[in-house]
Amino acid sequence: MSHISVLLHETVDALLGGRNTGIYVDGTFGRGGHTRLLLSKLDEHSRVYAFDKDPQALAVAAQLEQEDPRFTIIHASFADIKTALNQRGVETVDGVMADLGVSSPQLDQAERGFSFMKDGPLDMRMDNSQGLTAAQWLVEVDEEHLANIIFQYGEERYSRRIAKAIKAAGYIESTSQLAEIVKVAHPKWEKNKHAATRTFQAIRIEINKELEDVHAFLPEALDMLHNGGRLAVISFHSLEDRIIKQFIQKESTLAEDDGWGLPQKPKETRRLKKIDRVRASEEEVKQNPRSRSAWLRVAERINFKGE
Ligand SMILES: C[S@@+](CC[C@H](N)C(=O)[O-])C[C@H]1O[C@@H](n2cnc3c(N)ncnc32)[C@H](O)[C@@H]1O
Repeated sequence: MSHISVLLHETVDALLGGRNTGIYVDGTFGRGGHTRLLLSKLDEHSRVYAFDKDPQALAVAAQLEQEDPRFTIIHASFADIKTALNQRGVETVDGVMADLGVSSPQLDQAERGFSFMKDGPLDMRMDNSQGLTAAQWLVEVDEEHLANIIFQYGEERYSRRIAKAIKAAGYIESTSQLAEIVKVAHPKWEKNKHAATRTFQAIRIEINKELEDVHAFLPEALDMLHNGGRLAVISFHSLEDRIIKQFIQKESTLAEDDGWGLPQKPKETRRLKKIDRVRASEEEVKQNPRSRSAWLRVAERINFKGE
């Protein structure tokens, strides 16, 4: 089962910014589409480190490790980028990318439990070797917290009714059972959207700590970049894109005030320069509808004093 990489050339070209050598990080290996293109553009002295939480992605990456001595896969969250790379003797890097969210194989395999379109066990873990499944978590969580999660991460207006119906149902074994419960509880379905789309998104984000990981990842990735090093991140929904946008905004803006209200020359605190934001072309959206919602944001490290 394959994964069609989104904004493939745009991301790799932006990450390299014209260079062909250095140490690069792909925070989300998936099936290795971006990593492979990156390796093909780098010289023999370069290194690429990739992360993934998913044991199936790791199996594919392990094969690439055998084929290419410049490549190393790490089974960890990209939120741990600094610790994981420091442990391997890497202190600074020339570029970091991430292509957030789930891969097509994760969505397509019923047994991973991500999709309301396919009946499978209600799992939803990217790393299915540890942690609570969605089914287990739904038993443990209280109704109010569940409603908040569905509201915040699913941006679902009817979160309270849905949370109530889920908690009333007891142990929910399968994706189709959950989809049906949400469908019955949902008073108003949106056009072209399954009634459970938002609820599934919310539970998936919670189970995998997706937003917390992005929050932790961005400052660590930035800390590791040399001057001129690029950060390139693809996101697929507004909650993630907002975190990335605000982070780049904050790091690329001069602090106005020193906190004491005194007129002073602002201290140089900027660590990033905005480079680009890119959407998929019409052609790409036609070929791969998943790319429709993708946003690539690119920024470059400045004012690194460690060299
Ligand atoms: C959209 S896919 C990446 C596809 C990849 N760029 C390609 O071209 O094949 C996202 C991948 O990132 C992984 N992932 C998501 N969040 C992660 C995290 N916090 N840490 C490590 N891997 C993560 C998922 O398991 C999935 O395999």
